[in-house]
Amino acid sequence: MTTKKKPEDLRSYRWFGPDTMRGFGHRSRMLQLGYRREDFTGKPVIAIMNTWSEINPCHAHLRERAEAVKRGVWQAGGFPVEVPAFSITETFMKPSPMLYRNLLAMDTEEALHSLPIDGAVLMGGCDKTTPGLLMGAISMNLPAIFLPAGPMLRGNWNGKPLGSGTDLWKYWTERCAGNLSDADWNAIECGIARSPGFCMTMGTASTMTALAEAMGMTLPGASSIPAADSNHVRMAMDSGRRIVDMVWEDSKPHDILTLAAFRNAITVDMAIGGSTNAIIHLVALARRRGLDLPLHLFDEIARQVPLLANIRPSGEFLMEDFYYAGGLRALMAEIKDLLHLDCRTVNGKTLGENLEGARVVNRDVIRGREAPLFDGGGTAILYGSLAPDGAVIKTAAADRRFWQHTGPAVVFKDYRDMDARMKHEDLNVDENSVLVLQNAGPLGGPGMPEWGMLPIPNKLLRRGVRDMVRISDARMSGTSYGTCVLHVSPESYVGGPLALVKDGDAITLDIPNRKLDLLVPEAELESRRSQWIQPVPKEDRGYLALYRERVTQAHQGCDFDFLVRDAPPEEPEIH
Ligand code: FES
Repeated sequence: MTTKKKPEDLRSYRWFGPDTMRGFGHRSRMLQLGYRREDFTGKPVIAIMNTWSEINPCHAHLRERAEAVKRGVWQAGGFPVEVPAFSITETFMKPSPMLYRNLLAMDTEEALHSLPIDGAVLMGGCDKTTPGLLMGAISMNLPAIFLPAGPMLRGNWNGKPLGSGTDLWKYWTERCAGNLSDADWNAIECGIARSPGFCMTMGTASTMTALAEAMGMTLPGASSIPAADSNHVRMAMDSGRRIVDMVWEDSKPHDILTLAAFRNAITVDMAIGGSTNAIIHLVALARRRGLDLPLHLFDEIARQVPLLANIRPSGEFLMEDFYYAGGLRALMAEIKDLLHLDCRTVNGKTLGENLEGARVVNRDVIRGREAPLFDGGGTAILYGSLAPDGAVIKTAAADRRFWQHTGPAVVFKDYRDMDARMKHEDLNVDENSVLVLQNAGPLGGPGMPEWGMLPIPNKLLRRGVRDMVRISDARMSGTSYGTCVLHVSPESYVGGPLALVKDGDAITLDIPNRKLDLLVPEAELESRRSQWIQPVPKEDRGYLALYRERVTQAHQGCDFDFLVRDAPPEEPEIH
């Protein structure tokens, strides 16, 4: 360990060290908690930012894990304090958990800023929690380690493995088509989520925790360990030990999160077949760091990186299998030549050093370079008259028949409209139609809900149709699949071209050429634009009112404009 700081240099010393009236007040209140002065004075004070909540099943074990982190902090000579953080639970939070990612980021930044904290262990994993915690920590730029909550165990139904989200969509479709009994449906409901931990498909949670590791913000191998595995407890304790050294070394997120580290994250995102949501989150994280990740960079990197993780929804297996196959370190070792191996990570070593000795032990789960699941371009960025600022498609999850497709639009003006009409027998739609959902973006949703995998109309389901071209300004769950064009920017709610589409308009999707075009003459579009009326927003209050006023568009990461800055906030005055 390289010690750079002395005890008097610690940030917390400003609270606990001085022989002043305020210093007295701070110390006396710590003594009130039953500690001795030497426990907390001149020792790194470590915040364990805990997103545990009784209504967040993905984080059900984080209370216990906080104890393991504390053990590690005490062992290394630090002083741990558990700080509750806003818990974003993907399943339950309405209208969209994405609305609250920025709230968690603010909560994290403000807690670290206002309290006598020297370093932080960030505990989370359920979808928006990882980017939310990291965004706040990047803005504050105190030493920090991310501790992934870990995926839950495989689901099980009749001896068949069940994957979060992916198998819900799959079997719901079969139920709608009349192919599944009540008894089977109930058994699936009981078997799909069997332990603490986040979704165990390659959804947003598994993706973002993997990318946190790829960027160097977790201990090596941390993101692949299932929540229920005892290795997870040891990893939590090791994170607690390591953060104390990081404080003495003054190793901060800005030292780790270089442009090369973000490029590594994008590369790994493509190799694991990561969730499309990762694009929005990485853009937001980079902007907090003062870096720009233009959407075309994702496309450039995607074209060079093969998809090697055979995990649902793109593949066959689940995160538990991925761990047994060698986990993320093994996968990264397969693509070493595509990574920046000299990037520093939280354990003080380079990524290259951390990958030494990693190897794949199951080639079905983590494919070799000679037999990828998909040979480059698993995610594509589209531009064109329908998406001047870009749109995203997960190519690996799209039916190849639709990679170059022109069809007539069937337009739904919002989610309610879609929900009401999708089941109607008289809906004018066939398998070549292009389903369009408007007003589902950052402001239109609001909160850009995961409505992007529009359901297939019931009458087509019964004819055996299982995929169609679907376009929206919404997001899509990382566990979803299908030919779904997402994140169309600018969104329809602010008058983007998506707002001008009418039933019957021809739309062309051309994935090989990265194009998304509305085939309507410009004069006609201009006339529609002049008549377009922006939807009237609901009367909002509190956080939602702030969100509406300051959120940015999808290609800018959906962060609040006033939080996008490189410099950490000024230290609070103590008086
Ligand atoms: Fe928490 Fe899926 S519901 S990760």
